[in-house]
Amino acid sequence: MTEEQELEEVVEGTTRVLVPVDRTDNGPGKKMGRVFYNRQMAFNRDVSVMFFAHPDVRPTRALDAMAATGARAVRIMKEVGPDLEFHINDWEKVSADVIQRNVDLNQAERCVVRNEDLKCLLAHERFDYVDLDPFGTPVPFLHSAIQGLRKKGILAMTATDTAPLAGTHAKKCVRRYQARPCRCVFGHEVGLRLLIGYVGRQAAMFDKGIEPLLCFYADHYMRLYVRLPESADAADASLAKLGYFKFDRASHERTILEDYEAGASGPIWIGDIIDHDFIQKMPLLDTLAEKDRCAKYLQLWKDELNVPFFYENNELSSDLHVSPPRQDRLLEGLSEIGKVSKTHFSPTGFKCDQPYSVVKERYRQLFT
Ligand SMILES: C[S@@+](CC[C@H](N)C(=O)[O-])C[C@H]1O[C@@H](n2cnc3c(N)ncnc32)[C@H](O)[C@@H]1O
Repeated sequence: MTEEQELEEVVEGTTRVLVPVDRTDNGPGKKMGRVFYNRQMAFNRDVSVMFFAHPDVRPTRALDAMAATGARAVRIMKEVGPDLEFHINDWEKVSADVIQRNVDLNQAERCVVRNEDLKCLLAHERFDYVDLDPFGTPVPFLHSAIQGLRKKGILAMTATDTAPLAGTHAKKCVRRYQARPCRCVFGHEVGLRLLIGYVGRQAAMFDKGIEPLLCFYADHYMRLYVRLPESADAADASLAKLGYFKFDRASHERTILEDYEAGASGPIWIGDIIDHDFIQKMPLLDTLAEKDRCAKYLQLWKDELNVPFFYENNELSSDLHVSPPRQDRLLEGLSEIGKVSKTHFSPTGFKCDQPYSVVKERYRQLFT
């Protein structure tokens, strides 16, 4: 038996959503047998709305596999209105009932409410887009999603288990992702690349490759939008973009390795995490719940260099025993030695295509 939950109407973007009165307003949260809604994830859903407004995103059959209130898919259908059939699923009966009410409330057409275990659903149906948004790790659901995607289908996925991925719980990461993380200043980029690499390795088992369109870290989660082309060649090409790395804590040097060496972290994805051609065409809509934040991130993603890994202003300043300069002065000064950009991973971080030793020398010249 599930208990009745009191609902109230909120507006997210321009969509009216019935959500539980008793809900999680920050952090990942987890309440079984109840309907889940987290207002802090509105930005995550905003990005999905922008994603479906992209001219090159043209699925005809999509699945929001773990939908809770259905806020994500209903918003996409209401605010973008793509020409597709959106299946909105949750295995909790209370959630499926709320999803139906939210579909009706918004007169969202072409939505099909489902109430199944996603593993059963994806065992016998195929989609062009599958969205996984679990409590914690997506690992238990990944094979189902990969097998349930049509050729060149898109996998969207949230992972809130950032502590293992970023190296705080290293043993758990090794068990779960069969990869070694690294607890360090750029640990969240390691975690994101480790997660992409894991998806690539699992997809390859089904003769599928991965093409990251947009992969990012925000708040307490990692989020991936990845296309999965189906062919042995595509799988091999993706495996070729896996690697390892070493972080020398004395010199701060990050060294990418093609093969494993004793003491290395990984495997991780060393290819691009943002497809710049793709992101250039992703529109900023007026209807978004957190438009200013979306605008900020969109610009960061458009400008961000794809090179692993970012550096921290504080890392260099404490290494050289000086106070950190302003971020804009730092970026301007470093632009003389190579390509440099801000990074979405950290407001005080930056990407540069030069090794730490070169960056440090320039930093010394400029700021000591
Ligand atoms: C974090 S919530 C999803 C939040 C939602 N996507 C949103 O944006 O508000 C995870 C949901 O997955 C559902 N779920 C967990 N395991 C499932 C399974 N095997 N099949 C279908 N739904 C499942 C839970 O009932 C829960 O509602």
